[in-house]
Amino acid sequence: LSSVYAPKDFKRLRVIGDIVASCFDYITPFIKEGISTEEIDNLVVDFLKSKGAVSSDYGYMGFPKHICTSINDVIVHGIPSKDDILKDGDIVNVDLTANFKGFHGDASRMFLIGNVSKEAKKLVQVCKDALNTAISICKPGVPLSEIGKTIEEVVNPFGYSISRDFVGHGIGKVMHDDPQIYHFYDKKWDKVKMVPGFVFTIEPMINAGSRECKIDKDGWTARTVDGSLSAQWEHTLGITEDGVEIFTEHNY
Ligand code: MF3
Ligand code: CO
Ligand code: CO
Repeated sequence: LSSVYAPKDFKRLRVIGDIVASCFDYITPFIKEGISTEEIDNLVVDFLKSKGAVSSDYGYMGFPKHICTSINDVIVHGIPSKDDILKDGDIVNVDLTANFKGFHGDASRMFLIGNVSKEAKKLVQVCKDALNTAISICKPGVPLSEIGKTIEEVVNPFGYSISRDFVGHGIGKVMHDDPQIYHFYDKKWDKVKMVPGFVFTIEPMINAGSRECKIDKDGWTARTVDGSLSAQWEHTLGITEDGVEIFTEHNY
């Protein structure tokens, strides 16, 4: 495990995690029918600037914006645009990674726009439950494969699929570090166990239909091949002596 950090680094990770959580709180009232995803991007830039933080996404492998905005059938990596205007019934994921004093925090949340179908609401809730249940089992000694196993146990009874094309990751002084965190069971991760100081994300992408994805011509936007809805929630986490800390929600 390369993303293992000392207690003094956990203090820094708490600070950036809190900035990311506060940024979500700040943008939430604006995320309504009629706003463009580019306007959400602008709000994030202004908020981060006021805190002395910057987007880690901007310029990452050429990514042109500061957040990812993934609407309806978009699984991940939607690019904010003035032409993408949120409309009644949409579900949208906003994913933000930010850097403060050299430490990264990465989180995403789903937003429901106006009157959303019962089916869409259920998908969003099951995905959130999958993330929270997976977080709840994290502590020293637990194999990384338990994360994917737990997510499958929550998601499979609903007949949804779990995206395999994108994974969680170690994080800290770099945005994307080893190891990869699978959101499905793979015995490959049975032997790798969580240790105190380990910092990583869990970010399940759950599709209402097939798990297969295709990438748009822009080279980023990943959509479900069958056009079905997709949801995602993400937190940055740190393993403590006896459990897990969620950096990207308010702890203090
Ligand atoms: N925040 C994303 C993640 O969860 C990374 C986005 S990379 C970008 O890992 F280039 F698309 F911004
Ligand atoms: Co993210
Ligand atoms: Co991530």
